Amino acid sequence: MRKVHVNVGKSYDVLIERGLMAQCGAYIKDVLGKTCTAVILTDDNVDALYGDTVQQSLENAGFGTCRFAIPHGEENKNLQIWQTMLDYMAEQRVTRTDLIVALGGGVVGDMAGFAAASYLRGISFVQMPTTLLAMVDSSVGGKTGVNLPAGKNLVGAFCQPKLVLCDPDALRSLDADVLADGVGESIKYGVLGNKPLFDLLATADWMDQTEHVIESCVSAKARLVEEDELDTGSRQYLNLGHTLGHAVERCSNYQISHGHAVAIGMVYATRLAVSMGICPPHVLDEIIDMTKRNHLPTSAPFTPDMLCTVAQSDKKRAGDQLTFVLPHRIGECELHRVDIADLPELVQIAVGA
Ligand SMILES: NC(=O)c1ccc[n+]([C@@H]2O[C@H](COP(=O)([O-])OP(=O)(O)OC[C@H]3O[C@@H](n4cnc5c(N)ncnc54)[C@H](O)[C@@H]3O)[C@@H](O)[C@H]2O)c1
Ligand SMILES: [Zn+2]
Repeated sequence: MRKVHVNVGKSYDVLIERGLMAQCGAYIKDVLGKTCTAVILTDDNVDALYGDTVQQSLENAGFGTCRFAIPHGEENKNLQIWQTMLDYMAEQRVTRTDLIVALGGGVVGDMAGFAAASYLRGISFVQMPTTLLAMVDSSVGGKTGVNLPAGKNLVGAFCQPKLVLCDPDALRSLDADVLADGVGESIKYGVLGNKPLFDLLATADWMDQTEHVIESCVSAKARLVEEDELDTGSRQYLNLGHTLGHAVERCSNYQISHGHAVAIGMVYATRLAVSMGICPPHVLDEIIDMTKRNHLPTSAPFTPDMLCTVAQSDKKRAGDQLTFVLPHRIGECELHRVDIADLPELVQIAVGA
């Protein structure tokens, strides 16, 4: 069993082990020190694959259970579907001393987390991520929320889980594209501060070491979240590849998924760093090579103008400045603030136009 402790206001553990889903009830009972009603919130795909296993394990440990599946997909990460979760919990007379178990990828984790933050002004929740992206990134750190028509994750709350349970066996049923999304975020952690992780992801057999990959990424995220729980300082490093990655996602109308867009955003950020003379050119070659090996894209068919227009309205914009995370080399990056006025020229360079 691998364990990463996340030492924020209310601290919690991330446990990583194969087969954990079938034993989740005992671990959750241990952390809560009691049993209660556990509401499993999931999506239809994950429900069909793992819903029974998780529910059975919770019942074996003495929990009362009920289970609600939303339709899968980013397009369902909205206030209407989120309300169906709340209505279901109210119907089931879930009380403040009960528990939400968020079983699924980042969409379920963010929505069920936001339900936990707001239902009866807040109840406890446990994250059981089932995609690589959710295991290495979204289940840790306490950001929860849903999308608005105006943009992604525009409504939400900071709400930390009581426990995160990662069962890498769940990754076996993922589509290759969904797995690749998680690889995109994992490469990010390599470039940010872990050259050995980056080198491992360049080999064909990293899938045999998913526990190690998850532990490495979660440890890095935990340290940044501990320093900056509310995302006003060093947590911004996690935005490597995201400044232009988000713009790519939005220009594609979300047809390019998050991890794929982050991979493109990392290539763009590195090209910018090379042009500024703060990163040697071979690092760009290494990142492009790594991206291709993992079946991720290195560019998108959007003009600098399109990307620039969208990037200017990014919610992370602070006044007249935007922050890029720029690599110096694999394992070291810097935060680099740029004036919005300079953005058109910088984006042109970043996309290699
Ligand atoms: N809170 C954060 O800090 C944070 C960080 C990064 C991303 N996110 C959010 O995460 C979301 C993306 O998450 P995602 O990539 O996990 O997408 P997702 O939750 O939509 O899952 C992708 C697809 O895989 C299916 N699936 C999930 N687990 C499966 C399994 N084990 N086997 C087979 N199919 C499975 C789902 O049903 C879905 O169709 C985005 O909404 C993004 O905004 C949040
Ligand atoms: Zn991300």
